[in-house]
Amino acid sequence: METIECIKSRRSRRKYLKKDIDNKILEEIVDVVRYCPSSLNCQPWEIVIVKEQEIKNKIFELKKRFMPEFLIRLGYTNECIVEAPVLIVVCVDTKKSPSRWLEDGVFAANSLLLAINNLGLGGFI
Ligand SMILES: Cc1cc2nc3c(=O)[nH]c(=O)nc-3n(C[C@H](O)[C@H](O)[C@H](O)COP(=O)(O)O)c2cc1C
Repeated sequence: METIECIKSRRSRRKYLKKDIDNKILEEIVDVVRYCPSSLNCQPWEIVIVKEQEIKNKIFELKKRFMPEFLIRLGYTNECIVEAPVLIVVCVDTKKSPSRWLEDGVFAANSLLLAINNLGLGGFI
């Protein structure tokens, strides 16, 4: 897909097929993070792929607890998290990026979303 088309056609997707995503495809997606910009080029990311239902449930509980504003203001229940075949968790090492960890994390998340869209898949942050 052409770059600008990929950026413009990306949308948050919250309904998923009950199909596993092949690890080779996941590797291709996650690999884009290595090319992301980061503050002082600190590359503070660790990406965790979650397929286990129990861990998805726990992440859903965390999102409910720490990000309730999205549930209230936009009406998203985020329950789709437990239905998604795969969660990609972006972790940022705050020792490597003490003052810019949030920006570094968001750059990675955006690149992941674009890679996902480019491969004809869907997701949201
Ligand atoms: C920092 C951030 C947090 C978000 N959190 C949620 C969320 O908790 N649940 C959700 O369904 N969408 C979430 N979104 C997605 C936005 O709601 C979505 O990007 C926005 O409505 C625009 O729609 P689009 O992504 O389809 O263009 C989040 C987006 C950002 C940038």
